Amino acid sequence: MQTKYNHKSSYYNDIALKLGHQLLGIKYLHYGYFEDIKNISLESLQVAQEVYAKRLISKIPQDVKTILDVGCGTGEIARQLVEKGYTVICVAPDPYLIQKTIENTNNRVKTFTDLYENITDIEPSSVDLILMSESCQYIKPDPGWEQNKKILRKGGYLLVCDFFKVREIDDPHMSKSGQPLDNFYERAKNANFTLLSEEDITANVAPTMTLTQNLIYEKVFPIGEAIIEVIHRRYPTIYKIGSYFLSEKIIKLKNKYSALGADKFCYYKKYLTLLFQKN
Ligand SMILES: C[S@@+](CC[C@H](N)C(=O)[O-])C[C@H]1O[C@@H](n2cnc3c(N)ncnc32)[C@H](O)[C@@H]1O
Repeated sequence: MQTKYNHKSSYYNDIALKLGHQLLGIKYLHYGYFEDIKNISLESLQVAQEVYAKRLISKIPQDVKTILDVGCGTGEIARQLVEKGYTVICVAPDPYLIQKTIENTNNRVKTFTDLYENITDIEPSSVDLILMSESCQYIKPDPGWEQNKKILRKGGYLLVCDFFKVREIDDPHMSKSGQPLDNFYERAKNANFTLLSEEDITANVAPTMTLTQNLIYEKVFPIGEAIIEVIHRRYPTIYKIGSYFLSEKIIKLKNKYSALGADKFCYYKKYLTLLFQKN
């Protein structure tokens, strides 16, 4: 029997992604591709996310008809794919995101609410292209590559747009997300996939990190601090107990977000668009 992987490790990521979607009203859950890296704002993020999606879709080879969108987010990319005439299957572990995808695509895609690693109901060798738009980092490498090999037809493609680690993370506040790039290439080779194209878009997507950092410092922390201030005045006992448990966590969070800017991101990570073909 196939191992069933647990949703828990990506669950908290989904909560953060959902919040971003609901609070900021953004359509996509990926970074933005800033054509002008000096003009960054919430408004320009929305444009930059559209550019990201358009550029990614333009990389789909001509002989593709069926696409498996792994980690489909809100289904906005899937909607555009359906409109272009592709047959689309969407996978994500979060029921809220799958519901959004169904609404967004007018129920014109087949969906699976589970981790990609667990999916057994897609016919082997039936898919022309597997799309991982900023979802590759969440997929466990061993079962993920097994799925890629099994689901894609011979000559099918894996199109990945995501960030990868290019050096050891020696800053304790830096996020460890992303697969190590060398290891990813090695796994692709071992799985008998050929790299057809590679584009480094790090410089154009990195402003998303500075924007997120500014948002958290200028909006999220002040709101949190105001709530804490109200609790302090009205419920001093709760405040005392709460601050005992939370103060270290808050310091940790502040340190984490201080390491979120574009410069650090570019030092430790590369954001790439990679197109592989299964031999
Ligand atoms: C950063 S979002 C990207 C969403 C979308 N592809 C986009 O470009 O806007 C990551 C997505 O991966 C999904 N995800 C996380 N772990 C997953 C897994 N193991 N298998 C499939 N999807 C996963 C999340 O639910 C979310 O939809």
